[in-house]
Amino acid sequence: MPKPWDDFKVNGLNSHTSRSGKLKLLEQVINLLQTDQLARHEAYTLARDIRDQIYGPAVFFRGLIEISNFCVRDCYYCGIRNSKSGVNRYRLTREQIMSCCQTGFDVGYRTVVLQGGEDPCFTIDDLVAIVSEIRQRWPDMAITLSLGEMSSACYQRLYDAGADRYLLRHETANKQHYSSLHPSDQIADTRMDCLRELKRIGFQTGAGMMIGSPGQTKVHLAEDLLFLAEFQPQMVGIGPFMPASGTPFSAEPAGSLDNTLIMLALTRILVPAVLLPATTALGSLDPAGRKLGLLAGANVIMPNLSPPDHRADYLLYDGKVSAADDVVSNLEQMVFIVEDAGMFISSTRGDAAVI
Ligand code: 5AD
Repeated sequence: MPKPWDDFKVNGLNSHTSRSGKLKLLEQVINLLQTDQLARHEAYTLARDIRDQIYGPAVFFRGLIEISNFCVRDCYYCGIRNSKSGVNRYRLTREQIMSCCQTGFDVGYRTVVLQGGEDPCFTIDDLVAIVSEIRQRWPDMAITLSLGEMSSACYQRLYDAGADRYLLRHETANKQHYSSLHPSDQIADTRMDCLRELKRIGFQTGAGMMIGSPGQTKVHLAEDLLFLAEFQPQMVGIGPFMPASGTPFSAEPAGSLDNTLIMLALTRILVPAVLLPATTALGSLDPAGRKLGLLAGANVIMPNLSPPDHRADYLLYDGKVSAADDVVSNLEQMVFIVEDAGMFISSTRGDAAVI
């Protein structure tokens, strides 16, 4: 009996012209992969083959610097949301950020990711100065930013200062679902506008979503995949939802490992040249999570470069792995994961391939 998976493998989404036809097919494929282990392994193999044809079995490392856990936003899922009390708030100084970059450069990373909450005390002038200094001091280093929603003019200034990439997860492509995860001043359309602006300006742009966030259905997952297939971001961050204490969703169950792996593989198949991290959340959900992520088509790992004394304060969810590790032991664990997955660590910047 022919399965939706056969048609999907051969024709992708092309055999369906209407949006509803494409969504139906994606939903059927997700259903099949959830129920049929053999089909699931076929999906992982196909995803790995596509990845290896474009990038080889290389994993790109990104040194993650968590520059501030102050945030004006109040996302219901997030462990550093504005109204959560008991968070030890910190903001790195410019010198601390530079010192993290130096450490990252010395251990061989050729991308730094500056990530933080939306913290108005980092003004756009501050951020431009930081990006310019990194660009000048480490010309071989790619600079990725993950600092939330900003005006197009601010994004442009950061790009002009030398930032190469920007991560801004869309969180969910379904507007109603988006509004159930965020307070009413956070609008799905604004998020999508930011993503389109980032791409237009020339950033390698990253979208992404949590798997198993409260209220998420299979149709939502299909909508996420359709959005990714249409938007064709250069990067996609996918991890399981993990409950964070002191948030409205603290008692909700975590997302599933299998669903996260299925979504990684389908993302690789639909966005072949995507740079796809095996995320920290995946490693926090399951000790084998990141290796399994690489085996399902991922090709990026983001070791933590933040100063060890602030690691434990940047907890987007409970049970985050390597919150207490120093840079070297964190790196050693990542090397083990990569080799265990039969891959090797690339020493290049790992820019998105243009195919
Ligand atoms: N579980 C999993 N991922 C989370 N993020 C925020 N909170 C959680 C959580 N509780 C993710 C969001 C955000 C990214 C920086 O971290 O998708 O975009």
